[in-house]
Amino acid sequence: MSVIDLHTDPGCAVPPAPPAPEPDAGLSLAGWTGDVRPSVIQRMLSFSGRADLVTFALGLPAPELFPVDGLARAAERVLRGDAQALQYKPGFHPLKEQVVAIMAQRGVRCRPEQVLLTTAAQQALSLLARVLLEPGGTVLCEQLVYMGFKQVIESYRPRILAVGTDLRTGMDVDAVQRHLEAGERPAFIYCVTDGHNPLGCSLSPGKRRRLVELAARHRVPVVEDDAYGMLHYERPDPPLRALDDRWVLYVGSFSKVLAPSFRLGWIVAPRELVPVLGCAKDGADLDMASFSQRVASEYLASGGFPEHLARVRMEYQRRRDLMLGLIRAELPAGTRFSTPRNGALIWVELPARYDTDALLETAMQAGVAYVPGAAFAVPGSTAGRSAMRLNFSYCAPPQIREGMARLGRVLRETG
Ligand SMILES: Cc1ncc(COP(=O)(O)O)c(C=O)c1O
Repeated sequence: MSVIDLHTDPGCAVPPAPPAPEPDAGLSLAGWTGDVRPSVIQRMLSFSGRADLVTFALGLPAPELFPVDGLARAAERVLRGDAQALQYKPGFHPLKEQVVAIMAQRGVRCRPEQVLLTTAAQQALSLLARVLLEPGGTVLCEQLVYMGFKQVIESYRPRILAVGTDLRTGMDVDAVQRHLEAGERPAFIYCVTDGHNPLGCSLSPGKRRRLVELAARHRVPVVEDDAYGMLHYERPDPPLRALDDRWVLYVGSFSKVLAPSFRLGWIVAPRELVPVLGCAKDGADLDMASFSQRVASEYLASGGFPEHLARVRMEYQRRRDLMLGLIRAELPAGTRFSTPRNGALIWVELPARYDTDALLETAMQAGVAYVPGAAFAVPGSTAGRSAMRLNFSYCAPPQIREGMARLGRVLRETG
């Protein structure tokens, strides 16, 4: 187990990051902004002008699968039916009830008053950090984490307790136990239970039970990020929140299954925490997103969502299987990779002679993009140097074939 102090770490783990932008003369910024570096994704976007680039980099849904007709009809009905949809409004109650029904399908029992609608999962994570974490406080998470989570906590300059992850069974719960039994009391444990970003793994049922048992015993909340929970390709296991309704603060999202631009997600929390989170949300955006909340609710009420979701799952599963086959066929001997049961991401660990950050520019020139593994490492960790994260949801099958052939060539020529 390792302890990393963000205060003393120089910043992003991906070399060579350009220096932080110089603030205007005379403008005095908060101290944490001195650690800000452009993310690897911003750097990649800045040199990706090629029209024929195949990108496995960003975790985007397939745009051709967006339920455009159903959403257009729902938007029309909402706009014509009630101009209040464009008004300042608190969270739309019917949508909370629909979220409760969706949660029941995930095996979670909750009530509308335990639900806070948020500006998607990203804001949910920000609000939870805002109410749980003091500046300089401690967070327990994995060494390789969702980049957006690093951005959520960086302004708190936290002390990070980083634990490893097994590609088949998820977070190292033994290491979590050692930290807690050694007396550590982090503000929260961050966990992506299913379809882990970037690792593509899911937490095993046994580890789920142990993690919530540890959280409850040591009175440490778990922030469960379930952004990919509904995108399952095998029989799903219930999320942590199904096992504990006190210590697990659950985050859900419509981004991956409806449309990210709706910016719609939710938190399921103990009832008494919801008004506190609501105040934090008011401070962020006056608790607003009335229009997309109403359109999503209207769309869900129209009954088309289950069929849409089944179609998305089927197509993504096809793309996942195609990419897994091509990883076996095209990538060097000794490559390890995850087989995701959920989500949109595969983690690929190449033999140690490869440095995927150094290789990225060559790969982009050859017309294929990925995210180097080191971009996901918490500050101070060297994890992910020979690894890459590949997305399988965005590209259509012919592009997946072409992109994987290019990647295979680059690795053969440089390995
Ligand atoms: C693990 C994880 N959590 C949260 C998010 C943020 O999603 P949203 O669009 O719901 O804000 C993402 C987005 O890719 C993600 O991968």
